[in-house]
Amino acid sequence: FCRRCQVFANWSLFAETDYLFFVNVLTFFIKCPRYGSVSCYIGPKKKKKKTDMTSLPAPMFSRNDFSIWSILRNCIGMELSKITMPVIFNEPLSFLQRLTEYMEHTYLIHQANASSDSIERMKCVAAFAVSAVASQWERTGKPFNPLLGETFELLREDLGFRLISEQVSHHPPVSAFHAEGLKQDFVFHGSIYPKLKFWGKSVEAEPKGIITLELPKYNEAYTWTNPTCCVHNIIVGQLWIEQYGNVEVINHRTGERCYLNFKPCGLFGNELHKVEGYILDKSKKKLCALYGKWTESLYVIDPAAFEAHKKNDKKGAEERKGNKAGCHDNQEVPSPAKDTVQVIPGSQLLWRIAPRPANSAQMYNFTSFAMQLNELHKEMEGVIPQTDCRLRPDIRAMENGDIDLASEEKKRLEEKQRAARKNRSKSDEEWKTRWFQQGQNPHNCSQDWLFSGGYWDRKYSQLPDIY
Ligand SMILES: *[C@@H]1O[C@H](CO)[C@@H](O)[C@H](O)[C@H]1NC(C)=O
Ligand SMILES: *[C@@H]1O[C@H](CO)[C@@H](O)[C@H](O)[C@H]1NC(C)=O
Ligand SMILES: *[C@@H]1O[C@H](CO)[C@@H](O)[C@H](O)[C@H]1NC(C)=O
Ligand SMILES: *[C@@H]1O[C@H](CO)[C@@H](O)[C@H](O)[C@H]1NC(C)=O
Repeated sequence: FCRRCQVFANWSLFAETDYLFFVNVLTFFIKCPRYGSVSCYIGPKKKKKKTDMTSLPAPMFSRNDFSIWSILRNCIGMELSKITMPVIFNEPLSFLQRLTEYMEHTYLIHQANASSDSIERMKCVAAFAVSAVASQWERTGKPFNPLLGETFELLREDLGFRLISEQVSHHPPVSAFHAEGLKQDFVFHGSIYPKLKFWGKSVEAEPKGIITLELPKYNEAYTWTNPTCCVHNIIVGQLWIEQYGNVEVINHRTGERCYLNFKPCGLFGNELHKVEGYILDKSKKKLCALYGKWTESLYVIDPAAFEAHKKNDKKGAEERKGNKAGCHDNQEVPSPAKDTVQVIPGSQLLWRIAPRPANSAQMYNFTSFAMQLNELHKEMEGVIPQTDCRLRPDIRAMENGDIDLASEEKKRLEEKQRAARKNRSKSDEEWKTRWFQQGQNPHNCSQDWLFSGGYWDRKYSQLPDIY
């Protein structure tokens, strides 16, 4: 809202280096179309202070200690592309590391491999698709934008997989990943390109890009796309995250599908976080109903029992209506008291979210899985490539609680990336991705990025110097 001309300005995304990624934007800058003045908005944050056992080296820095004016002072009158997002609104993980959180519930894929019936497998895969977005719950810290050529690997022998990801494009920002079961029971890959829309008080991120799961034992491939993620109250009020939209998991061998509807919060707030859907056979006959919440759990039941229950529930809901608050933008965070799945008798549990560790609130609301992502073990030194996120100095500094250093380093890395790009454009040299190449998804004809192999041979030469 421009204070001079008293109108809402057109949102104009400010910094090419700092895409407001996927989730969790607290600050953004707009330029008034009439006066060209730049305004900077920051969502206020509540902060609890507590020291406790920590799994990261330092608890998070209070965003309240950070003055809005110190940002405003620095950005007014500046060219929009020169403004960098203050690091204080980040969480100490790269977007590549955040993507890896899809793998937290890998046991569901092993379960799919172990099921001889294709519908049982579809249940596991659908549960995996829902569980993959569960880590986003209450995570309002913005991950660091990966630099072009940045990579991340994760080898989890205990969970039975290894994963490699690479930032394959800067404009638009595309992250590609490839995971495989250590016993060759699955391959899971995809490329993500979040497309952002601003709606005044919220930011919506539509995750373009296809996710593919292959189960070689059954010669099966499943594909889907993640739901849309929306962060509310980016200007005032408490931030909260919603995911909505339709996700269609397709088994390309059998033609079976699972439709999942991630419900928007709804007028009365009672649909919040809900997921519902059906598994259909090739002829579109409903075989099972799925329901639950992506923040909590997912159940499966016979479709007739599910529809009977819904009919009853609708009657009840109409009677209860009226005093319930909805969850529009200006609303407070919807009450967690409503946040429990009502289990219909005869249902089978497919997945339940793991509780967050006790210190999570001081640690950016990380899950236990996320806490370990940036750990640099002794054995990794000299083994992982120099492009690995764990070696990124800004993320490391933020993890250690050194905000000033993190901020300086982030700025330096962004400038270095810009300089390198300028250099390349002068010499007509093209950027070459290292571990992935663009191609057609083998199951869905759309464009994708496919792993070209070789990463785990660990012979890294001529890697770009991006840090
Ligand atoms: C995959 O499933 C088959 C049985 O269907 C089993 O023999 C095999 O060990 C499973 N692989 C893994 C890694 O669990
Ligand atoms: C963590 O979750 C709490 C509870 O919903 C929320 O108030 C807080 O803002 C979240 N913190 C971050 C960094 O997202
Ligand atoms: C740009 O190119 C020059 C000469 O090719 C090289 O010396 C310099 O290090 C390059 N700078 C960056 C940032 O890549
Ligand atoms: C490919 O994926 C897109 C996005 O999920 C979907 O809309 C489309 O129907 C898929 N095409 C095929 C052939 O599966």
